[in-house]
Amino acid sequence: MSAEILVPEKATIFIVDDTPENLTLVSTLLKPFYRVKVATSGEKALVYFAQHEAVPDLILLDIVMPGLSGFDVIVELKKNSKIRDIPVIFLTAMSRVEDEKKGLELGAVDYITKPISPSVVLARIKTHLQNKAVADFLRDKNEYLEAEIAKRTEEISAIQYVTIFALTSLAETRDSDTGNHIRRTQHYVKALAKALQTHPRFAPYLSDTMIETLFKSAPLHDIGKVGIPDAILLKPAKLTPEEFEIMKSHTTLGKKAIEHAEEQLGMSVAFLEVAKEIAYSHHEKWDGSGYPLGLKGDEIPICGRLMAVADVYDALITKRVYKEGFSHEKAVAIILEGRGTHFDPDVTDAFRALQETFHEIAMRFSDSQRL
Ligand code: C2E
Ligand code: SIN
Ligand code: SIN
Ligand code: FE
Repeated sequence: MSAEILVPEKATIFIVDDTPENLTLVSTLLKPFYRVKVATSGEKALVYFAQHEAVPDLILLDIVMPGLSGFDVIVELKKNSKIRDIPVIFLTAMSRVEDEKKGLELGAVDYITKPISPSVVLARIKTHLQNKAVADFLRDKNEYLEAEIAKRTEEISAIQYVTIFALTSLAETRDSDTGNHIRRTQHYVKALAKALQTHPRFAPYLSDTMIETLFKSAPLHDIGKVGIPDAILLKPAKLTPEEFEIMKSHTTLGKKAIEHAEEQLGMSVAFLEVAKEIAYSHHEKWDGSGYPLGLKGDEIPICGRLMAVADVYDALITKRVYKEGFSHEKAVAIILEGRGTHFDPDVTDAFRALQETFHEIAMRFSDSQRL
């Protein structure tokens, strides 16, 4: 990429100088190459910038003028976000080193002393226009890329969401037409997590980011059911102990499936880490009687303890091939009965406080209301 092509077709140079002869001299020099605008005082220049949308590409600024000096003018220009990035070159009879230093400190890009050499003026202007064009190009490119990344990220999230719904619905019921159970459980988990966010036992774990991750991961809790034979998963009757042993393997199968996905991906993603933990631990019970590991109390990952309450509540109120759905009240009673045996006591208490919210979520995403 050549910087040359980035410079606007015909750049506009704005000259501020109180001496008519200087204005004429510099204008005449620049006009064959640039559009030229002039102001005969700092005040007029500032008024011009305040009143016009279009900004020049470069400003040549005299220092010693009646009224505002060039130094005063540049200070004002740097306060205006529209003008701030326009390169300013001081063009002046002063040639003291301190003035040059001050001019550069105030944000000028260059400093040319009079009497001017036409070729030096043209060369410096060209250089600074190119620098500016490259800077603009990089900034625009950066903004473009950021916008593009935001858009792609949104698309990927949407795809991720849809894929999860499709896969997990299929895994759980062999029915690609339902996704409401998945929606409900993710909302239950989020409600529990939010309620426990200030609880000393849970606060360190439940950051806002973690709650969002839990919300996204929760739908994968039963992904392992994809590996359970239809004859067991869809059996319209009580499972035999042998069948239930196979059923229990959905936790380990889910963990392995997600692990496999992570290996394929070649990196660790928070969402999959948490999904894996939920899949593996959502059937553990507080008293150690759960599966697959028989973990007890705080040994059970927090995400699994939240998921257990969400999952069982939803299983209870929902009609399954093997059972009728219970009423909300009956479901609540069963969960509360499991306080300290099946469920973490504090999570159960949060559920007790949130039971109306659970009911609302259940109604909002009820199975009768298909997408
Ligand atoms: P699921 O249907 O999603 O149920 C999840 C959990 O909700 C169950 O885990 C259990 O803790 C609770 N739950 C569900 N229904 C009831 C109920 O009527 N009463 C009580 N107290 N709790 C209930 P669990 O038992 O480990 O089962 C895991 C999965 O195994 C179930 O997921 C379901 O897919 C399957 N399953 C369990 N029992 C049977 C059955 O008798 N027949 C069939 N076909 N599948 C079963
Ligand atoms: C659902 O996926 O919406 C719940 C499954 C069911 O109706 O049993
Ligand atoms: C069921 O068999 O209905 C679920 C198992 C349980 O009651 O824990
Ligand atoms: Fe499960």
